[in-house]
Amino acid sequence: MDKPRVLVARAIFPQVLDRLREHFEVEANPDDRIYDHAELIRRLQGKQGALTTGSERIDAEVLDANPQLRAVCNMAVGYNNFDLPACTARGVLATNTPDVLTETTADFGFALMMAAARRICESEHFLRRGEWTRWSYDMFVGADVHGATLGILGMGRIGQAIARRGALGFGMRVIYHNRSRLPAEQESPIGARWVDKAALLREADHLVLVLPYGAQSHHAIGAAELAQMKRSATLTNLARGGIVDDVALATALRDRRIAAAGLDVFENEPRVHPDLLALSNVVLTPHIASASVATRLAMANLAADNLIAALGCGPDAGRPPSLLNPQPRGAD
Ligand code: GLV
Repeated sequence: MDKPRVLVARAIFPQVLDRLREHFEVEANPDDRIYDHAELIRRLQGKQGALTTGSERIDAEVLDANPQLRAVCNMAVGYNNFDLPACTARGVLATNTPDVLTETTADFGFALMMAAARRICESEHFLRRGEWTRWSYDMFVGADVHGATLGILGMGRIGQAIARRGALGFGMRVIYHNRSRLPAEQESPIGARWVDKAALLREADHLVLVLPYGAQSHHAIGAAELAQMKRSATLTNLARGGIVDDVALATALRDRRIAAAGLDVFENEPRVHPDLLALSNVVLTPHIASASVATRLAMANLAADNLIAALGCGPDAGRPPSLLNPQPRGAD
């Protein structure tokens, strides 16, 4: 029997491609070109499955042009590049890569928050420019992290991992806002307290955003929200661009409405708004929160596991480990 055909839309670890080749006829993208929508549609012709990343948009147009497609497997925990209802309606299995990146992403979120609070990048640039000539009492004074109030917007797996670091490692008071409250047995070991969004904005010394992106969270942090935060506060976004209104944030940082920010994600990335690039009190990183070698490999392997199982192969045949649409039409 012919092997199913799959598209691996971006370059990934060669050993993971080799695993996929055991089951599939694979079209890879060794040059790691980003396909525009038309090319993605064309390359998916005749393919039963696709391994995608956040750069490939899987929408009704892609699915209708490729009715043979049975599975789309994202190498990311976020899946706002998928039109999930459109996949479900067409019986296309959709998967993501949760859990394997939780701790690595939380480490990075903490690092970004600390870099913003303690002005690490700004002071390093100053040193490299040769401007460090003497000690002074107020040179690059920032905000303490230990003992401060950590505010978390979105309290899923990554939010909880950041909260653990704050509470158990840094003696922080943890407050959070989320659609649903955690059960008491999850709140109490870290002393986390659910608050409404206004209290979160008002009370947090360091606010970290870890909520999924969608119509409901678009510009969840804009000028009105920034105006409610402490002037000494920091804001860290490692979730998705679009949750923060980047122009409003740049204005708030320029006017010292808040002290500093750490951003790993941006509206319109990889383009970064020039107003942000012009500021020194923001740490900017290129969407790398999950980028440790071990975690990226685990993500690629999980995406491959999902694809292999979704197309009826391997030990999990028919039961992809991280299925997003549990009851797609036509799936048993
Ligand atoms: C990265 O942003 C991811 O969603 O995994």
